[in-house]
Parts: sequence; structure tokens; C-alpha cells
Amino acid sequence: MLSLFGKSRSMIGLDIGTYSIKAIEVTSRAGSLVVTGYGETRVPAAEERASALRQLTQQHHLSGLVASSVSGRSVISRYLTLEEMPDHELANRIRFEADKYIPFEADKVVLDYQLVQRLPDSKEIKVILVAVKRSEIDEHVRLITAAGLTPAIIDVDIFAIGNAFEMNKLMGPGALPADKVHALVDIGANKTSINIMQGNVSQFAREVYIAGNEFLEAVGKGMNLSDAEVDALFDNPGDKVDEVIELIATALDDLGNEVRLSFDYYESQFDRPVDEAYVSGGGCQLPGLERFLERIFDVKTQRWDPTERLQFSLEHVNVDDVKRNCSRLAVAVGLAARAGMG
Ligand SMILES: Nc1ncnc2c1ncn2[C@@H]1O[C@H](COP(=O)(O)OP(=O)(O)OP(=O)(O)O)[C@@H](O)[C@H]1O
Ligand SMILES: [Mg+2]
Repeated sequence: MLSLFGKSRSMIGLDIGTYSIKAIEVTSRAGSLVVTGYGETRVPAAEERASALRQLTQQHHLSGLVASSVSGRSVISRYLTLEEMPDHELANRIRFEADKYIPFEADKVVLDYQLVQRLPDSKEIKVILVAVKRSEIDEHVRLITAAGLTPAIIDVDIFAIGNAFEMNKLMGPGALPADKVHALVDIGANKTSINIMQGNVSQFAREVYIAGNEFLEAVGKGMNLSDAEVDALFDNPGDKVDEVIELIATALDDLGNEVRLSFDYYESQFDRPVDEAYVSGGGCQLPGLERFLERIFDVKTQRWDPTERLQFSLEHVNVDDVKRNCSRLAVAVGLAARAGMG
């Protein structure tokens, strides 16, 4: 969304999460998007991040342009309905609206906006206004540059996930109906992001700060295991699955109820129900977790594979690795898919 330096046909989607850094390189070849590189590493302490990123990119032969994203409390987005107006007026109007809605000082933020919809039968438009703390963008650019890469695009996690969903589920043969309301729920380590979309139009976005970390802690304490041991257990719980579910039940309930509250808010504002939920993120890695979420969300809930429509360059990428971790790759894929939009 915040295009700093342009676009390219080959793009590394770089998701610097709070738990792991994911990098996926997508190359646009003859109309197809091909994964030409993939790597992931645990997030180290702040001062070691640039070298960890450099190591990751060297190990997986990744170089060139990077699309990255920001999230959390330094990002604010607002949905505005405005009367139609010429572009130069719109830019001014957005600045005026930002002064009203954004609680950061004007010189400390980067503002951008995207037209999401022209409302049929009226002279109105819908716009998403995004404000990001300048220090957060500077930090990303510094990190990417220090790792020897070239920052090209800075987006926002939630909208990158929406972009991945659009590419995989709303385009081409078998696309989902454009009038349905889909809630994308990405359960990361530190946060769960919720994006409610009608077709490819984002209508509501929010982050909730309950996610995989709570699960990790509950199971770590309850079973006396390290983070890595809990992750291995999440990937392959075998006959321990009931015990794990029992340990995370409280956090799962809290999270599910927060998400359900967002659905309720959406339903009262837009006067229509959320039709389906699509879950992603490492926090839902535990097999079968979506059935528990479904009960709390009270709508049909399924996992989705953000790499479903991508092709793979087998000489560069281990497809099994990508598929095993695909739930965690929604942000990175949505960012890298900008390669096909240049
Ligand atoms: N095999 C696994 N490898 C890594 N994390 C896993 C695995 N299985 C489950 N998890 C859990 O997934 C969570 C990390 O998910 P994810 O990678 O989506 O988060 P993140 O993007 O780094 O964080 P955030 O978006 O909140 O900043 C952790 O809480 C971790 O315990
Ligand atoms: Mg994340």
C-alpha cells in the first residue's frame, strides 16, 4: 500500500513477525506466479536481527527487491465514506480527515490511502486511510538495507493477507462468490488480525492481542516444555491432542470471543452476517483447532493455503517445507504477490 520505490517482476515478501521471519520470493513468469525462494528463521534479539536476516537470505539465495509490512499499535487504519472528487482534492481531504482521526503527530507519521470501492447508485467512494509511525517504517527500511536487500514496498500485515486471499480464493476458476462476506482471521504469536471482506473489498479490520504466545505459554507451563518442544508438539500432537486443547482452552475461548465480538460489530454496522471464516497463522497450526474456533465463531470455519495458486521452482524450493508451513505464510505471500502486479 505504501509504495516507496516502485515495483518489479520478482519480489521477496518479507514478513518480520514477532516469532519468526519469513521470506518468500515470487517471480512473475508468463502470467504465472512462481515461488523461486523460501526461508524462515526464529526472530532473535533486536540487535541481531539484521545479521539473522542476512544469513537467511544468503542461505536461500534471496536478493533484490523486498516488499515488507508493518502491524501492531504503530499502524492505524480508518474506513472513510466520502463524496466523489478529483484526485488532487482527495489527497487534501485525506490529510484533513487524518488530522481528525489519527492520534499521532502529523510529522511523525506516513499517510497513505487506497480507494476500495465506488458505491453504485451514489456519488460516494470508500477509502481506507492508513497512518504508520514513521519510526516503524524507518526501522524496517534500515533492517532490510542492512541485510543487503532493497526495500520496494511497505504494506500492512492485514492488507497483505487480504491480497493473498484475493489471489488464491477470489480469482480464476473456482473463485468464491464475490458477494459473500469472508472473515480472514490470522492467529500469529503476538496478535490475531481480523479482516472482514465482502468479495475483495475490505470492510472492517482489527487486531486483537491474544494469539499463539498464550497457547505456547499455557502448554509450556502445563507440560514443562521449551518453546521449541511445544512447537514440535503443535505440529505433531499424536495422542496428546486432548491434553493440549485442555491447556489452551481458556486462551482459545478468550480469543474466540474477541473475534466473535468483531463479527457482531460488523453484522450490526453492515446489517448482514459474516458468511465464513478463513483461518491462518502459526497460532492455528495445531491440527483440528479450526473445529474449536468454529464453535465459538458460530460460522463455518476453515484453514486456507495462501500458496494454493502458486507454482514452484523445484530447483530452488522444497515444496514440502512450504506446504507444511503454509498457514504461517499468508502475509509473506500477499507481499510477494505484488510481483505480478507491476
Ligand atoms: N512448527 C511451528 N513453527 C513455528 N511456530 C509454530 C509452529 N507451530 C506452532 N507455532 C506457533 O505459531 C506462532 C507463530 O505464528 P506466526 O509465525 O504466524 O507468528 P508471527 O507472524 O511471527 O507473529 P505476529 O504476527 O504475531 O507478529 C507461535 O506462537 C508458535 O508457537
Ligand atoms: Mg504474523
